[in-house]
Amino acid sequence: MPLSTAPCLALLYIFALTLVARSVYSWRREEFRDCNQTPFCKQARAAKPTHDKYEVFEVALINGDLHAKILPLSTENGEPSTPLSLELLFYSDQIIRLKINELHDPSDESKRNRFEVPNVIENTLHGKRLRIRSVEKREKMSIVSLASDLEIVLQHKPFEIYVRDDKDRILSFNNKGLFYFEQRRQKGEGDDWTERFRTHTDSRPRGPQSISFDVTFHGADHVYGIPEHATSLALKYTRGPEITSEPYRLFNLDVFEYIEESPFGLYGSIPFMLSHSAARSTGFFWLNSAEMLIDVLAPGWEGDDVNRREVHESDNIDTQWMSESGIVDVFFFVGPKPKDLLRQYTSVTGLPNMPQHFATAYHQSRWNYKDEADVLKVDGAFDENDIPYDVLWLDIDHTEGRRYFTFDKSLFPNPKEMQQKLANKGRHMVTIVDPHIKRDDGFFVHKEATSKGYYVKDAHGRDFDGWCWPGSSSYPDMLNPEVQKWWAEKFSFNNYVGSTPSLYIWNDMNEPSVFNGPEVSMPRDSVHHGDVEHRDVHNVYGYFFHMATADGLLQRSGGKDRPFVLSRAFFAGSQKVGAVWTGDNTAEWDHLQVSVPMVLSLGITGLSFVGADVGGFFGNPDPELLTRWYQLAAYYPFFRAHAHLDTKRREPWLFGEPYTSYIRDAIRERYALLPYFYTLFREANLTGVPIMRPLWMEFPDEEMTFAMDKEWMVGNSLLIHGVYAEGSTSESVYLPGQGLWYELKTGNSFPGGDYIKVPVSMSAIPMFQRGGTIIPRRERPRRSSSQMVDDPYTLVIALNNAHEAEGEIYIDDGKTFNFAEGAYIHRKFTFSQGSLKSSGINGQRNGKVFTSSSLIERIVILGLELPITSHATVEPGNRRIELEVGSLLLRPGMQSNAYILRKPNVLISEDWSIKVL
Ligand code: NOJ
Repeated sequence: MPLSTAPCLALLYIFALTLVARSVYSWRREEFRDCNQTPFCKQARAAKPTHDKYEVFEVALINGDLHAKILPLSTENGEPSTPLSLELLFYSDQIIRLKINELHDPSDESKRNRFEVPNVIENTLHGKRLRIRSVEKREKMSIVSLASDLEIVLQHKPFEIYVRDDKDRILSFNNKGLFYFEQRRQKGEGDDWTERFRTHTDSRPRGPQSISFDVTFHGADHVYGIPEHATSLALKYTRGPEITSEPYRLFNLDVFEYIEESPFGLYGSIPFMLSHSAARSTGFFWLNSAEMLIDVLAPGWEGDDVNRREVHESDNIDTQWMSESGIVDVFFFVGPKPKDLLRQYTSVTGLPNMPQHFATAYHQSRWNYKDEADVLKVDGAFDENDIPYDVLWLDIDHTEGRRYFTFDKSLFPNPKEMQQKLANKGRHMVTIVDPHIKRDDGFFVHKEATSKGYYVKDAHGRDFDGWCWPGSSSYPDMLNPEVQKWWAEKFSFNNYVGSTPSLYIWNDMNEPSVFNGPEVSMPRDSVHHGDVEHRDVHNVYGYFFHMATADGLLQRSGGKDRPFVLSRAFFAGSQKVGAVWTGDNTAEWDHLQVSVPMVLSLGITGLSFVGADVGGFFGNPDPELLTRWYQLAAYYPFFRAHAHLDTKRREPWLFGEPYTSYIRDAIRERYALLPYFYTLFREANLTGVPIMRPLWMEFPDEEMTFAMDKEWMVGNSLLIHGVYAEGSTSESVYLPGQGLWYELKTGNSFPGGDYIKVPVSMSAIPMFQRGGTIIPRRERPRRSSSQMVDDPYTLVIALNNAHEAEGEIYIDDGKTFNFAEGAYIHRKFTFSQGSLKSSGINGQRNGKVFTSSSLIERIVILGLELPITSHATVEPGNRRIELEVGSLLLRPGMQSNAYILRKPNVLISEDWSIKVL
């Protein structure tokens, strides 16, 4: 060994040891900054609320938008006192946008524009602009009235903006006087702009440029959203009398083993907060991709001036928002109900895409399925154990030395044949493709990226070189549209040798994770396309990477097939691109529990296709925890088991009976509900309303539910209550609303509006169908979802007190975009006055057609009071069928009583009616 390489190898060895240590020990807090170690956060938190700092002038209506200037009345540290520009823009659906920026000075070209986040706002938003005709100018304020009784008030001095309805305030900006916009300035002689954290120095060549302000949610009981944090759904106070918490942090980080119950930022960031009370839901979104911190201020916090409050505003929630750079580009949403907020927010950032059908089924992953034999063994064992699954995942070690777009030749010599074997059973494969590119001159991706200058640059203008799974790595600059295009091309079948049309992609480590970087990420003074610093774009990098990958899959199919890409990092708008999971959780009961508010929080901020690693990524779940996890995760929108390299194997059959059967039942239950889930995916795709919903989204008036996150709704019809404790034999379940609920295990009905105590066994977790709903199911067990395509359906009708119910089904080819041209079946089922009807849902466009020959083979009716001798008549055809009393679902352990109609054999795609009485 040449002498000079010895120290290098020693260093490598030490580094490898630290990596191993990372997997053994839990989350290391000291690797991440807290507010006190973050100068702009410390400064913003220390700021005294004041109303003497800014004044508004030159208010004018230009092309229907309100323009003004904000004059700083006092400045600090040599900051210029030049005015800021203010714009208020209005859109249909009562959406209000406020932009505040430095005034562009054309005479000073050295002064770059501050960064504005591209490709998040929907292009269609522009078409929804409302041009305002007049503004009422008063001495101290300018008032804009929107078409309804909604007013936006721009108060000149002190500077403040608020939205009000019938003279009640809804949302206020700078009501507390915390607005501060740090304008960039010339570096003075004694100025030291560098920031140090642990062994890292951020040169901050452009100086401080932070922004902070307060937002008040008037009349709110709780605030929610701003994922991603491992914490409760209803956000907690972070500052106030006797509260000394860190603010909620939005900074995409690879925190490795995260702890539950922490406001620290995890892998993705959505700066969208919602408030809710029985009277109104409101929302606030800040389009800014730099590091952001948000305080939820408890009553009595230092700036809380009780005397300034009006009596009816006693339950406001004040929040403080702080960001390192960028501009103020914020949106106010006025609801008034939770589902309205989702419509409003997704009209700005985009609707969730419609996934391929297979992606809504069960996924089996682990780091790593070792080789082809392992893959085929696992695949075969699913069949031997009669457990359905759709997708098998390969983690980083399937590659040639962690060079993505390759297969290790000795472990996976025949990747195409392997994929084909799965495809023959209607199954798919997913491989991982991360953004860190191995710096190896022989690797085609690295060679191309280097020669074309496609990598992010370090502060000295060289290709940034950081340490990640492959060792020394560089990162494609996903901000550059040319790089996005180049990256997408890498997924063509020619470039990605060994890939086939049944292969889809997993993007991991795209925060981006850099093992030897500050806070395990990229230095903030690294430079992207357009001379943009990494600090400005940090939170959106992963989103662009995800987007370019999804574009690659789209192009690969000639624009025909819907892409499927799972991403760990995300930003506002990621719902347009693909699915997301909650990263490296642990096999502990607390992590099972916190997965529910984590998935719910993502759903209410637009990202509906979400799940958590089933079983916990780190550690070894015992059979009980694993079983409970499967039972709960069967209702996550994204359902994937995954595990760390060091964990024991835990495929569903490995713990033996009775656990294999319990897990099989849980997975089969998901498959039975796929028609319902797919219908909900379409609902999300059309309205933004998530699949997995907090109770208050369905029962907005019911205060009892506002802070609940141990149970939730799947769509509007199913209530799920997780079991989060070892050895639980009974659970206290809250049933909201005034109507009936049916426990699906027994068929027993309960009135809503109270807690009930239900016994639980290991065979299932509590699940209730809401009276008044109809759920489509498919009960025939198959190997994979694609083998269910022609299967018949079961309708489960749960009647309400008025003996009525309704539901929907949406079906399309599950793969292409033909549905966008009308090729789908969307039907409504209604049961009233003893008659069940199927009718087409309006809005089906003429164009391409989708047909199905599937029949309805069974109808189950809960809550029907009839003599057993009754029969039903099916139209058309005037056929007579006897009504039977039978078990609700034809599965073991289910013994409920219900009326059953066997073989009505009507087509799912057609109009028909069945009269029961
Ligand atoms: C981190 C991811 O969160 C995890 O799911 C994956 O298995 C490892 N990276 C290895 O790729």
